[in-house]
Amino acid sequence: MITIAYHDGTPENEKQILWAERLTARLKHIRLVPLSAPHAENADIALVWRPPAGRLRQLNQLRLIVSLGQGVDHLFSDPHLPDNVPVVRLVDPDMSHALSHWVILALLDHLRDGPAYRLAAAERRFDSLPQRQTAQMPVAVYGLGAIGRVIAHRLAALGFAVQGWSRRPRDLGRSIHTYHGEQGFQNIVSSCRAHICILPLTAHTTNLFSADVFAAMPAGSYFINAGRGHQVEEDALLNAVRTGHLAGAALDVFVEEPLPDTHPFWKETRIAIWPHVAAQTNPDTAADQVAQAISIVLAGGQPEHIVDKVRGY
Ligand SMILES: NC(=O)c1ccc[n+]([C@@H]2O[C@H](COP(=O)([O-])OP(=O)(O)OC[C@H]3O[C@@H](n4cnc5c(N)ncnc54)[C@H](OP(=O)(O)O)[C@@H]3O)[C@@H](O)[C@H]2O)c1
Repeated sequence: MITIAYHDGTPENEKQILWAERLTARLKHIRLVPLSAPHAENADIALVWRPPAGRLRQLNQLRLIVSLGQGVDHLFSDPHLPDNVPVVRLVDPDMSHALSHWVILALLDHLRDGPAYRLAAAERRFDSLPQRQTAQMPVAVYGLGAIGRVIAHRLAALGFAVQGWSRRPRDLGRSIHTYHGEQGFQNIVSSCRAHICILPLTAHTTNLFSADVFAAMPAGSYFINAGRGHQVEEDALLNAVRTGHLAGAALDVFVEEPLPDTHPFWKETRIAIWPHVAAQTNPDTAADQVAQAISIVLAGGQPEHIVDKVRGY
């Protein structure tokens, strides 16, 4: 019997039954047990989101850690993460699909003045504003990985002039101009009017969006973050919006989640707040990849999407 220690970040492990059903339909002789249970200590596999720090190290027969999400910062923030066990992350096209929908929703809402029209409707004003065109709004996509590429291509198909930024040079075809590295960052920041962050959280991307970076964006820019909260200096963002330098922001991720009651973002109407739901892990679409990674590891092989621990993503 193969034991999979499960934790989804909630004390109740709300989705454990769903995952157990999906995985037992694909793998023989497995059982899911809560990561917190004493018998989880003999687990072969960990299937986890935000496990308590230090807990995975206590699983002394562990052969594979599977992140229940595409990001892995929730694992690498644990200083006791076992370093001899491979970490696999989800790479689910369904998540790229969902996340691109969220970005498109946020960007088009801004382009077409959704907030102003909702306010007018609440006041029963039937007023029009001049219609803005996609061509007037060059868009920067920071992060051109599994998700960022899909976003970039879909925004280009909607008529936006899209530019992309990554660590290494990337070619996304003729319709998308790409940059990389520090000089590329400065160029893209200063030339776009909408900025979409879909980067992994690493030492290099922490606090990337600082007061200086917001100041370097053209006046009236819009900022969208679906990466991680710690990539943004929140005070600097709030200040850039309050002073009117930025037109506003749509945020799905925050330094502290859930966003505390007292956080000033709640009072800033030009900041749209979403509770980390841009793309949720879907066991129906992700179970194939998880089952495949487990069976490859049990057979002594190397599964796809092993995370590079030095690079951090
Ligand atoms: N809000 C949500 O619901 C939600 C859901 C899923 C994921 N996410 C977030 O989205 C992130 C990205 O996911 P993914 O699957 O697209 O990741 P991925 O496939 O690993 O792609 C990461 C991209 O970021 C680039 N990058 C990394 N470090 C960089 C740096 N220092 N400078 C410039 N570019 C850098 C990479 O550059 P290279 O191409 O050169 O490697 C790559 O293009 C996740 O880590 C997670 O934080 C959020």
